[in-house]
Amino acid sequence: MDERFTFAQDLARQAGALAHQRFSHREALTVESKGLQDWVSEADREVETMIRARIAAAFPQDGFLGEESGGAAAAEGEAGATWVVDPIDGTACFLAGIPTWCVSIALVSGGEIELGVVYDPNADELFAARHGQGALLNGVALPPLTASRLADGLFGLGHSTRIPGEVVVGFLADLLQAGGMYMRNGSGALMLAYVAAGRLVGYFEPHMFAWDTLAGFALIREAGGWTNEFLTGDALHAGNPVAACAPGLVEELATLLEGRI
Ligand code: IPD
Ligand code: CA
Ligand code: CA
Repeated sequence: MDERFTFAQDLARQAGALAHQRFSHREALTVESKGLQDWVSEADREVETMIRARIAAAFPQDGFLGEESGGAAAAEGEAGATWVVDPIDGTACFLAGIPTWCVSIALVSGGEIELGVVYDPNADELFAARHGQGALLNGVALPPLTASRLADGLFGLGHSTRIPGEVVVGFLADLLQAGGMYMRNGSGALMLAYVAAGRLVGYFEPHMFAWDTLAGFALIREAGGWTNEFLTGDALHAGNPVAACAPGLVEELATLLEGRI
């Protein structure tokens, strides 16, 4: 697993560099719609193909689940480990020229998130966590999470067209009532990394996929934060609700989440 952790960090940097080259020339990319407010470009596919090929070459016994290629067919590898990858999380921002997107890579084994890596090439920030060994930002341990109230900082709120807008609007009203403040930067994975880094006090999105979520959850847990149990049911393929926060505001957030997850 140590070998895979080092490999995942190198891979995220390489994938981020490739994605950033495409970002710099995004007017040349072919873009397709996958649904309302949901796009995929050549860059998403190319970066995922690169990541998948490098994993297959280095760890041929491992399984692979990627947003653009591996969804339905994803298999647990012979070794019981599955890489879960979003090549570009925040595609809408990527295509609009907004620098809030990232590469997200996790490895799941035996129902445990063994490692999670989120790389933001625009900020050159590599968030990396290994189960039981803490969380790092560019090689330096993340500081303790000190927020104790929603009113202590910004809260990440995610939404997609997979869920009726009323769910997030209701949560937002309660968050504001509690003295909180929201932000959405277009990348759920990056906002989860920000929770791990203490930049956001928490995060909620009624539904995300495993490739949006698992790397960030590894980071938050290793940084001492709280997350809901994501890997229940068919979460790897169908996704689940996502909630996370600093340890000091678990009870306050639980009140807001009642009936919503
Ligand atoms: C989306 C982003 C967004 C979140 C959505 C995801 P994509 O992923 O993470 O922030 O709200 O749920 O689907 O399409 O940019 O890879
Ligand atoms: Ca995503
Ligand atoms: Ca994506």
